[in-house]
Amino acid sequence: MGDDWTELYRPKGLVEVVGNPKLIKDLQLWALSWEEGRPSHRAVVLMGPPGVGKTSAALALANDFNWGVVEMNASDQRNADAIKKVAGRGSRSETFTDEGEFLSSKEGRLKLIILDEADNIFGREDSGGVPAISDLVANTRQPVILIVNDFYALSRKSSAIKNNTMQLKVGRVQGNTMRGVLRKIALDQGLEVPQRVFETIIENSNGDMRAAVRDLQAVAEGNESIGDDDAFVLESRLSLRNMYDLMRDILHEGDAKRARRTMMDVDETPEHVMMWLDENVSLEYKGEDLHRAYEHLSRSDIFLSRVIRRQYYGFWAYASDHMSYGVTTSKSRTNRGWVQYRFPSYIMKMSRSKATRNMKSQISQKIADHTHTSTRRAAQDVLPFLSTIFKADNDFRLAIITDLNLGIEEVAYLLDKKVDSAEIKRLMQEVENVRRSKEGDPNPVQKVFKESVVEDPKPQMKRSEPRGKQSSLFQYEG
Ligand SMILES: Nc1ncnc2c1ncn2[C@@H]1O[C@H](COP(=O)(O)OP(=O)(O)OP(=O)(O)O)[C@@H](O)[C@H]1O
Ligand SMILES: [Mg+2]
Repeated sequence: MGDDWTELYRPKGLVEVVGNPKLIKDLQLWALSWEEGRPSHRAVVLMGPPGVGKTSAALALANDFNWGVVEMNASDQRNADAIKKVAGRGSRSETFTDEGEFLSSKEGRLKLIILDEADNIFGREDSGGVPAISDLVANTRQPVILIVNDFYALSRKSSAIKNNTMQLKVGRVQGNTMRGVLRKIALDQGLEVPQRVFETIIENSNGDMRAAVRDLQAVAEGNESIGDDDAFVLESRLSLRNMYDLMRDILHEGDAKRARRTMMDVDETPEHVMMWLDENVSLEYKGEDLHRAYEHLSRSDIFLSRVIRRQYYGFWAYASDHMSYGVTTSKSRTNRGWVQYRFPSYIMKMSRSKATRNMKSQISQKIADHTHTSTRRAAQDVLPFLSTIFKADNDFRLAIITDLNLGIEEVAYLLDKKVDSAEIKRLMQEVENVRRSKEGDPNPVQKVFKESVVEDPKPQMKRSEPRGKQSSLFQYEG
């Protein structure tokens, strides 16, 4: 796979930015006012929670109006100079390239200046970011979009920013809208996704479209089809989203205090976090850094085992600090690329095998009920043989499915196939056909069954028949 779906399916134009129709209108009107040479406001502030389409809307707007884009991460110190340059000279000159170099007016078209994470710059008074941005929004000759999570932080520091900008809210994406987008992506990927998986993803996302797309990719990864068992896995990840955030804070952001704080907020045991780190640390760390990180993880592991041995939960704090503070500070280089974190394969395997175990005991229960024996005996003595014959003999298969009233998941389990594979679907259809024709004809399945398996070959050994024949292998008179 490799592609990051959140990038692959980033809206190209404003029509694809879902969920905030009023916002789209306002942005279009604002852009038109720039096109006409008399901007209603020089700058717009887009504010809203993570992953709802702020950056996407800004980029889509530029695309729709064929504007160039100068994108800057405001919290990156290295950009402060560039911002000053743009604010001081660039934006007032005719135009400039995506790298901030000036062009002659002939080559020029409008350039949208996008300042992402603009609220972060206000944390550092010394950076000169506040006056630079205030100047920018008041005087720019190019359209400017500031993107913030928290407008209050920004407006408090500068009334100029508040007064010279048009503030637009970007709201969380509604479940229905989200479902539409996820369906389209699944269709495009040729994936069949059970309703239940969509619902779980949407519920988990809390209106964060990026999180939803990312989760869909995570369940699709390495699966040629997605079954209900994936919903099971998904559901078991109660704070799935939190874990991705935590991984980013520990492994990527490089802010140890923040990593530690997020670690405390996450509603998971340190053991669980450990599995996530173990799965993902090597995706972000290399060489010496990786070595140091593992050093902390192994220390952490020692504390975790002491928790168990001594039944003293105070050690959790040390374990957690090694995982957050320790791992974060092990990194000497920043990795600027984007990393798709993975759900721990260990947990995945365990929950899959749990689903399998459940299935096994469910079928054994049915056999036990049917043959008046214990589930244990059914599981040990009958199930292995039954499943072997079940795989080999189609008539037997049809009969057993009907007799035991096996559901599609149980059938898939017995055949070692995915629930939504074509073969299983075909088989269930066949069972259904037989069932239907049975309503006309007294009992075709059992007839097949009797002829092929049960019918006594020696007619002279007469059975007393007053209460009817045993109609299948598993049916006994009460
Ligand atoms: N409104 C939306 N319509 C369609 N796709 C969306 C929308 N919002 C988010 N997405 C999906 O999520 C991805 C990330 O969205 P985007 O970068 O625009 O979020 P953001 O609001 O800028 O988040 P952050 O505050 O974390 O920067 C997009 O590439 C797209 O795949
Ligand atoms: Mg963004």
